Amino acid sequence: MSLLTTEIKLLDESQTIDFSGVVARLVANVNGFEKGLIFYLNGDLGAGKSFFSRAFVQHFIPGQKVKSPTYTIVESYNFSINAIHHLDLYRLCDPEELEYLAIRDLFKENFIALIEWPQKGAPILPTADVEFEFQYESVGRTVKVTAISEKGKSLVAQILATYKTV
Ligand SMILES: Nc1ncnc2c1ncn2[C@@H]1O[C@H](COP(=O)(O)OP(=O)(O)OP(=O)(O)O)[C@@H](O)[C@H]1O
Ligand SMILES: [Mg+2]
Repeated sequence: MSLLTTEIKLLDESQTIDFSGVVARLVANVNGFEKGLIFYLNGDLGAGKSFFSRAFVQHFIPGQKVKSPTYTIVESYNFSINAIHHLDLYRLCDPEELEYLAIRDLFKENFIALIEWPQKGAPILPTADVEFEFQYESVGRTVKVTAISEKGKSLVAQILATYKTV
């Protein structure tokens, strides 16, 4: 099996917003909410994880206020039967804290999860379907996109196809 992975240049903020729009559209194409897809968002402080997440949520809920879940750990956004759960585990002292947040209830049906600092939740946090790693560059950022699960593959294949042609 070839590893489904690609690196995409995001030269400025508008390209990060465009990328979030591509991902949002393709998530809809592959019935991502029905599948229940978990995205791990990796990268250093300030790399663009929350910025991407805000734009992603706003694609589905225009004008929605999206604050970083740094202190609340989880922020959920509901629309029709779907939910987007945005998590930031940076401040988690112990992965056990996820049990108190009833984390398993979040990952049941019709959801997308965007999870910043997922390594802080191991081994309690469910594994990823897709990983995005945001990296600083001399100009802008790159995002490395990798399919982790079978469920994540069709989405990543479509992201690859989209960025091959632009
Ligand atoms: N492609 C890009 N080029 C340059 N700057 C960008 C790009 N995309 C996003 N940014 C900027 O990068 C910053 C990212 O901040 P953000 O809060 O998203 O970081 P983060 O990865 O969530 O960090 P933390 O780990 O602290 O939560 C924002 O100021 C945003 O404007
Ligand atoms: Mg953040």
